[in-house]
This record gives sequence, structure tokens and C-alpha cells, in this order.
Amino acid sequence: MTLSLFIRIVVLFFTVLVSAEQHTISFVNRCGYGTPALVLDGKNISTGQSYTSNGPFSGIAYLQTGPCLANGENCALLEMTLINPTVAGGGSSTDISLIAPHKYNVETSFAYYGGCNGQGTTCSSANCNTAFFNPNDNQVQVACQANNVNLVITFCSNASDFVTSSGSLASSPSSGSGSGPEPTSASASGTPTSSNISSSSSASVAFPTGSSAIATPTSSSGSKSCSTKKRSKRGALEANVADDITSKRRGMKQHRRRRALSSDH
Ligand SMILES: *[C@@H]1O[C@H](CO)[C@@H](O)[C@H](O)[C@H]1NC(C)=O
Ligand SMILES: *[C@@H]1O[C@H](CO)[C@@H](O)[C@H](O)[C@H]1NC(C)=O
Ligand SMILES: *[C@@H]1O[C@H](CO)[C@@H](O)[C@H](O)[C@H]1NC(C)=O
Repeated sequence: MTLSLFIRIVVLFFTVLVSAEQHTISFVNRCGYGTPALVLDGKNISTGQSYTSNGPFSGIAYLQTGPCLANGENCALLEMTLINPTVAGGGSSTDISLIAPHKYNVETSFAYYGGCNGQGTTCSSANCNTAFFNPNDNQVQVACQANNVNLVITFCSNASDFVTSSGSLASSPSSGSGSGPEPTSASASGTPTSSNISSSSSASVAFPTGSSAIATPTSSSGSKSCSTKKRSKRGALEANVADDITSKRRGMKQHRRRRALSSDH
């Protein structure tokens, strides 16, 4: 092993050790049908299992109820960027998009936990005022500036009702608003089946099964959020991930703008 390779390995080791940023995305499907899809760089990374990213995460999700294409076209789309802020206001942001070709299919909801507990939104009709219908609807985005924040995505229920006041996930909604049948096998098959995941408000204790290594934005096929934009960023180092997230954010905005210009895509 050359000295420089050795040094690089040591640096990588400490980078991973010191920056223990982590975000978990959990699903609850109370519809009684459909399969959740969590998509990162055009690849399915969860069909309902909790997913933990050891670093910033930027991806999309939807409930496959039949008509949805790979990036959620024809269905309600969740767009999320989970990242520890390094500048004021540079933290996490999540939204629901119904910009064509996305289309309302089921009640779609999200909420943060392990920080910004229960903050989120629900779109429960095709004309809800909590989703993007055009690219300028920025008020529908829900931001969170807490570190290591997690996200619960629910279908046919209100995600906020699954977040306890201590910031953990509950297996059933607190205010009995469950508008759908009991959970099916497609529901939160990760952690929140038994009662309490974690009594601390720290996010870093939940270790769901489908956990990933460091989020690795390799050369993506650019399918993020139906985007055809090729991404130039490569590499698995966390140092690059923040840049990549920034470029993805830009990509999402451009995507909305393009959508506004050409309605059929
Ligand atoms: C991703 O998962 C959804 C839901 O199961 C499925 O409909 C879709 O076809 C999958 N996409 C790919 C590329 O495998
Ligand atoms: C969802 O639940 C939260 C907390 O109980 C509540 O504040 C909010 O109004 C609910 N949203 C909808 C759309 O019912
Ligand atoms: C879950 O939390 C509640 C309230 O904090 C507590 O009473 C209960 O014993 C906990 N259950 C488990 C399995 O830890």
C-alpha cells in the first residue's frame, strides 16, 4: 500500500467517524393497498422498509397504486432533501408535488421526527392547498433546520399523528384520524411496528433494516424527479454529497420551471 493511499483511507475513516450525519425515512401505508416507493437517483431503495442515509439525502417517494411510473408520474410525489444545515436556512426541506404529470392518487402526508417533531403537511384531495401545482408554490415546502432529522411518510393518514412529543415514531396515530383500514404488509415494515423506537429525541438510534452505506451520488441517470438532467458529480465522499444535494435542489427547481413551460413531458 502506498503512503498516499494509506493517508486517504485514514482521512476517509475519520470523515465518516466525525460527521455522523444520519437521516431515517419511514413509511406508514394505511390505505390497505399500494406499495411505497422511495427512489434515489432513479433506483428504488425502499418499498416500505425504513431507510437510513449516513449523510445527506435527496430523493423522491410515492405510493404505487397502479398507474405511477418510475419517478412517480401520474401519482402524488414527495420530494425530500434531508441535510444538516451548514448555513442558516440550509437545512432540510420536503414537499408534495402535483405538478403534471404528477397527479393526486391517495392522501399523502409527511412529518419530521427526531427534530421539528410532527411538522409536515398532508394533501388529502386533488385540490389541496398543501402541494405544488406550479413551480412557484414555494409556500408548500416544509423546512427543518434540526440536525439528523428523520421523516415519516404516510399514506391515507396524517403523518403528524405518528410522531410523539418526544420525537419518536408511534405505531398508531395519536388522534385517531386513521382514515383507512389497518396496516397491511406494505405498511411500516421497518421499525415502528412495536411501540417505542426511541425515547430520546436523537435520530441516530433507530437502525432499520434497509440501511444504506454512505449516500453515494454516483453518476446518476438523472431520473430524479423526472429530470433528464445529467449530473456531473461523482464520488462517494461525504464532502461531495453536500454539493450534490445543492445541485439536486437546483435540479428540482429547474424541473418545476420546465414543467411550467411544457405541460406534456
Ligand atoms: C419501484 O417500486 C415501485 C413500487 O413497488 C414499482 O412500481 C416500480 O416499478 C419500481 N421501479 C423500478 C425501477 O423497479
Ligand atoms: C394533522 O395532524 C396535526 C397534529 O395532530 C394537525 O395539527 C393537523 O391539522 C392535521 N392535518 C390535517 C390535514 O388534518
Ligand atoms: C413506551 O413509552 C411509553 C410512554 O413513554 C411507556 O409508558 C411505555 O412503557 C413504553 N413502552 C416500551 C415498550 O418501551
